[in-house]
Amino acid sequence: MRRKLVAGNWKMHGTRSGTAELIESLLGAMPDGQAECAICPPFVYLTDAARLLRGSPVLLGAQDVCAEAQGAYTGEISGAMLRDVGCHFTLVGHSERRALYGESDELVARKFAAAQSQQLVPILCVGEVLAERESGRTHEVVGRQLDAVLQVVGVAAFARAVVAYEPVWAIGTGRTATPEQAQDVHAFIRGRLAARDANISGSVRILYGGSVKAGNAAEIFGQPDVDGGLIGGASLKADEFAAIVAAAG
Ligand code: 13P
Repeated sequence: MRRKLVAGNWKMHGTRSGTAELIESLLGAMPDGQAECAICPPFVYLTDAARLLRGSPVLLGAQDVCAEAQGAYTGEISGAMLRDVGCHFTLVGHSERRALYGESDELVARKFAAAQSQQLVPILCVGEVLAERESGRTHEVVGRQLDAVLQVVGVAAFARAVVAYEPVWAIGTGRTATPEQAQDVHAFIRGRLAARDANISGSVRILYGGSVKAGNAAEIFGQPDVDGGLIGGASLKADEFAAIVAAAG
């Protein structure tokens, strides 16, 4: 049985005091359910967040990690640093990093490996842009993004990883994939992993991300290959995020 996971990607939002308030409200609103829950605040608030989350069931994640272990990489944050401040997860390959900061499939694969080398659980984000979907290339694009990582780390590494399918056209647009569209790509991803290792493919969690709200979460999470969600905007409102976690439990 795959335990559902709901992770909040706060992106570049909030203030130090706002982070504390949001975490306090979130802890007050969290349902007692079976779903696992994580939040990914901005780097500079991770230490505060770790302190506030201590003793709670909510896990901490980062939004990105450097592919290198240490050294002269101005502005970068290593996996060891993230682990040191209490992170359990880190996102890798979010579409905003790929599109706005030029992260290649190859760099994302190296970030995935760097995260795991520090015992962080990478949440590998994949997904197609609208033009790719409209030209029927969704599986090709998602397959390429997945294969790039498989080539570097091998399928066994997915025993300690999470995949997030985030169609780029659904991120922050209010236009969510239909449950059928999500299930189709999730089944494709699982099948791609199954071709290499059926046991690992059966245990890896595949999250859906893109305009998930309290109102549509249950339907999407009800699909057989959807194991939870990666939530952007709605993770910045405690009640809304708690309701999404409840929908997964
Ligand atoms: P939204 O939930 O705001 O569409 O963002 C999704 C996302 O990018 C999570 O990583």
